[in-house]
Parts: sequence; structure tokens; C-alpha cells
Amino acid sequence: SSPIRPYATLSDTFVSETSELAGIEWDNLGFAFLSTDYMYVMKCAQGGSFSKGELQRFGNIELSPSAGVLNYGQGLFEGLKAYRKEDGTILLFRPEENALRMRLGAERMCMPSPTVEQFVEAVKATVLANKRWVPPPGKGSLYIRPLLMGSGAVLGLAPAPEYTFLIYVSPVGNYFKEGVAPINLIVEHELHRATPGGTGGVKTIGNYAAVLKAQSAAKAKGYSDVLYLDCVHKRYLEEVSSCNIFVVKDNVISTPAIKGTILPGITRKSIIDVARSEGLQVEERQVAVEDLLDADEVFCTGTAVVVSPVGSITYLGKRVCYGDGFGAVSEKLYSVLTRLQMGLSEDKMDWTVEL
Ligand code: COI
Repeated sequence: SSPIRPYATLSDTFVSETSELAGIEWDNLGFAFLSTDYMYVMKCAQGGSFSKGELQRFGNIELSPSAGVLNYGQGLFEGLKAYRKEDGTILLFRPEENALRMRLGAERMCMPSPTVEQFVEAVKATVLANKRWVPPPGKGSLYIRPLLMGSGAVLGLAPAPEYTFLIYVSPVGNYFKEGVAPINLIVEHELHRATPGGTGGVKTIGNYAAVLKAQSAAKAKGYSDVLYLDCVHKRYLEEVSSCNIFVVKDNVISTPAIKGTILPGITRKSIIDVARSEGLQVEERQVAVEDLLDADEVFCTGTAVVVSPVGSITYLGKRVCYGDGFGAVSEKLYSVLTRLQMGLSEDKMDWTVEL
């Protein structure tokens, strides 16, 4: 295996690659992995704390076959995006929120985690090192994927003796193959994503492997993704495999409340704040599957999906349609949020971080 070449440490002056933009086709980026120039790596022992990380050339990592993450799923991930403005500056969106969420997840998964400051500084360093991979304005964003994993070897079930925090990045466009066209969801009524007291509320890797079976079956039938119900009543909406869900009725926006089984999305939280700042009423509550029947609009939110309109939802063989584009409410929220994220409007919320 080829060794990873250390490039620079955070305190070193970083000299970026020479060209302004990577030489790839920037039109029609989807959500597929493209390898970039550098990744950030920081390690710590169990019971210790993270201290100094470094940027390394992007490449494969070496792990013991007995690593905690491989054997027992002791791992978390995050997702955030960087946008390039017309003037060349790069904007991050609420990176400290991802840092805080990783800290909460790490506590649940018995892992040490970077401080908020370490996390944000590492994200900044990784984005700057890979600046030429941030798409031109209007062409997409640089998706930033921080990982935290039990990288030390274990055999008996226990927290791993060593942890690795790693960040890699990849330029992306739209998440769903539909692009910005509405997605079609199917409600899953047998398999569940999360249970009360489980790990549904943290971004642990196993939550995502657990949805692949239902997602694959749904895709094979032509649906874009799966909408999960709570496992106790099999009645209340939880989330879609990779995003949160919102329902609009008579200009009132409802979304499932955070209660440990759904992911506390940063886009979810931001959309709630944007909606309220636009004078709209937002309710975080139990949303019953019947509420889908007479909804005016349904949409999903997430870092990867941003705001995606839902065109139809199928439940027990019955299909409810919502239209062939954004509804008035979701279009407004999409526009306000993305203009802010891309630096096209004044950031009155103080959410963006300029690089
Ligand atoms: C994100 O939206 O950033 C996520 O982490 C979801 C992932 C399944 C793409």
C-alpha cells in the first residue's frame, strides 16, 4: 500500500495547488464521490483528548481488521458544505453546529471527540487545502465529510483503544437524480430506522447501513427514497433515509419533533428559523401519517438534499400527489436559505463563516 505523505500541519503556512479550479467538468455534478487533494487526520488514545492533527495527501487509510469501527460500528460522521462566491471567497454554513452534534454523538458512542474549535479549524484547513475543488458559483458545493471512528484494535466488545478524526471533501451537485424536481417517497411500514433509547438521534454510521434494505427495495420500484414511521405506533412520521421531513397545511409548517429517534438536522433547524423569521408558523410535533393526505406541500431538508420538494408519497398502496415542483412555501424557504448559504443575500442570521 502506498504511504500517506504528510503535507503540512495546521500551524504551517499552507501553500495551495497552483490552479484556481480543478480541471473537471463542473456542469451536472451529482452526489458521487470524487477524490480531491488533501484530507485531515487527527488521532487520540481512549481516555485522552485530541491534540494536533495534520493535512495529508488524500488516500487510503490503514486500519487493523480488528478496528472498533469495522467490528462494532463505533463510528460517526458529519456532513456540511462550502460554497464559492463570485468574489472568490468561500463560505461555510454553521460548522460549529456539526461540531456540537459530533460531540453529542461521540458521548453516545463512547468516543472522545474534537473540541468545537478543533473541529471548525480542521474543516477550514481541509477546505482551504482543497480550494480548487470548490465548484464555481451556481455549479454546486464542496461537500465536507468529517468522520470519527474507533480505529484501535479490539476483540471483546468494548470501546476501541484509539480514535481517528478524519475529514475528506468532494465536490457535489444535486443529491437526488431528480435534481430539483420533486422526489417520490414510499412509507415503510415494516422496517424501522430507530427505536426509543437507540441511536437514531445521533449520526452514527449504523443508522445509515440500516436503511439500505428498504431504500434498495424502494428504488427498485421506482421511488426516490423511503419515509420511516415511528416503531411504537407505526403511525408518526420520523424521517427519510437521508433527510428530515416537513408538511405544510394552510401555511402552517409541521415537522416531527426531536425526541431521540430522528436526526436533529442542521438544515432542519435552519429552515425552522428561516420560516419563523419570514412570519410563518412552525410546529415541531408528532406528525401522523394521515396528515400527509390533505397536506398542501411536503418537502425534505438535509445538508446533502438542501430543500427537496416531495411530489408524491405512497402509503399502503395509496399514492398522494403534491404537485410537479416546489410549492409556494418550500420555494420561498429554499430560496432564502440557499441565497444565504451562497452569499447572495445578507446573512442576518450570522450563520456563514467566510474563508
Ligand atoms: C447529509 O445530508 O449531509 C447527510 O449526512 C446525509 C447522507 C446520507 C448523505
